[in-house]
Amino acid sequence: MTIASAPGKIILFGEHAVVYGRPALAVPVLQIHANARATLQTENQAQTIAGPSLAGKNWADAVLIAAPDIGLSTTLSHLLAAPTPHPLAAVISSVFQVLGIAHPPALQLTITSTIPVASGLGSGAAVSVAVIRALSSAVQCPLSDEQVNQLAYEVEKLHHGTPSGIDNTVITYARPVYFVRGQPIQTFRVERPFSLVIADTGITAPTREAVGAVRKLWEADKGHWEAVFDQVGTIVTAAKKAIETGEIASLGPLMAANQTLLQAMTVSSPELDRLVWAAKAAGAEGAKLSGGGRGGNMIALVAPERAESVASALKAAGARNTIISQIE
Ligand code: PMV
Repeated sequence: MTIASAPGKIILFGEHAVVYGRPALAVPVLQIHANARATLQTENQAQTIAGPSLAGKNWADAVLIAAPDIGLSTTLSHLLAAPTPHPLAAVISSVFQVLGIAHPPALQLTITSTIPVASGLGSGAAVSVAVIRALSSAVQCPLSDEQVNQLAYEVEKLHHGTPSGIDNTVITYARPVYFVRGQPIQTFRVERPFSLVIADTGITAPTREAVGAVRKLWEADKGHWEAVFDQVGTIVTAAKKAIETGEIASLGPLMAANQTLLQAMTVSSPELDRLVWAAKAAGAEGAKLSGGGRGGNMIALVAPERAESVASALKAAGARNTIISQIE
């Protein structure tokens, strides 16, 4: 049996513009994670679990998948037969394909996750990374981080359409990442730890839709939106410098400036705006949405001693859940 785990993530600065080649900063969130457990079955066990004899059936009939959090209990064949490719089926098949294993062994894969789905915390990428690692280790061919990242990126394309690759990268490497699409991974140094409150609007919002909306705006007026994305890029560069030199005080205004540009991109929402406002009213130094937006999560920069009271204020303002995270 092999077990693998992958953390959640938040984007500190630069979401959406990162799809258009500007840099972004993201960090792992270690309090939440996706787990995958792969157990090789003897053929008899697989037959018992799968029901009638496997004789004459596809190998994918003997790959059993359970994701109790979402009420999924099925076989890989079933997922592969779906009219639109199921991302989980794509992850599993791609692992065996890249390993050159034409007839994988019978196995049971169990997936659990504490990362809320479709809320900007990287749940899809974390499940992919955990599954890729658990499966490749189960067949004794563990993949390198680079290979895991590449495979997870291919699956992100099914989730998102045109992902930048930031989610799979920060989650695979579980380190702070200064990300530029298509470039090798770069990390950044956190000179002085700082605290964030992450608050969930409770509204699920598929990233694909927010990314698609920004693309429509961009297609209608590329000159204008390229200039907006440049402004986001300037904010990201300044934020990286501030984090690397420990000038945490300048991050609050940079978050506010980034949030204003995200509002212009139409990816904020009344609920996100309300939480941003509530965080500031409760003493946060800055706040913005994080990830795809239109729901999902926002982040607030707080002095450590204010974290609990800002989290309470966010709950009072309607946040479904809050996480206090130390970035270091
Ligand atoms: O919603 P999330 O956490 O998956 O973040 C998406 C980030 C975007 O910049 C909006 C899209 C991307 O692919 O980078």
